Amino acid sequence: MRIDAISIFPDYFAALDLSLLGKARDKGLIQFKAHNLRDWTFDKHHTVDDTPYGGGAGMLMKPEPWGLALDEVLGVDEKPETVADATVIFTSPAGEVFNQQLAYELAQEERIVFACGRYEGIDQRVVDYASTRAKVRLISIGDYVLNGGEVAAIAMTEAIVRLIPGVIGNADSLTEESHSGEGLLEYPSYTKPASWRGLDVPEVLLSGNHAAIAAWRYQQQLDRTRLVRPDLLTPDTQI
Ligand code: 6GU
Repeated sequence: MRIDAISIFPDYFAALDLSLLGKARDKGLIQFKAHNLRDWTFDKHHTVDDTPYGGGAGMLMKPEPWGLALDEVLGVDEKPETVADATVIFTSPAGEVFNQQLAYELAQEERIVFACGRYEGIDQRVVDYASTRAKVRLISIGDYVLNGGEVAAIAMTEAIVRLIPGVIGNADSLTEESHSGEGLLEYPSYTKPASWRGLDVPEVLLSGNHAAIAAWRYQQQLDRTRLVRPDLLTPDTQI
């Protein structure tokens, strides 16, 4: 998979060189490049924003740098009707909300381009234009507001890339985590020592009784989910 990000703060994406993501890159499983939107400006101040038509608070991102950036990163021409086999994700608190299901879907893509907005957003025509050259999605990472889409794009990249086969050494760890499978939260886990600061590991986990352990873990998943995320329970799991 190839992932590009277009942003006025490409340095944010240095975080992706670390750890798992960096290794996936070294293994050739993913290619990642962050681009500076200001590279597609031609005035002295490298202006990327302007005031909104119709008035209103704040500044909006101008369409011209975005058009040139998207054409170049997607490898399409402004004039000929070329269409890229890519998904452009506009980060936006007004988008559909990202979740594990969407991460699985996006992990199937050959190419993803994150268009990271700042200020009060991007001129709508950029989204409309991009839709003629690639698949486009507006995605939010939750119901709160960030100053820009960079952190959201990093979060989505991490969630997507770890689902690509070969990125995570032990694929079983993907099936037993929160939001996978039945959509329940993960059960609590313990390691040695069996007693620590007066706190003991639950007896059943030391029993060697695999059926009892599985039953206990499932009950913990149900209890936890009912307590903190009842919205995740379906008629099937509400036992
Ligand atoms: Cl994708 N962008 C911004 N600016 N704020 C957000 C968000 C995205 N998702 C949640 N809040």
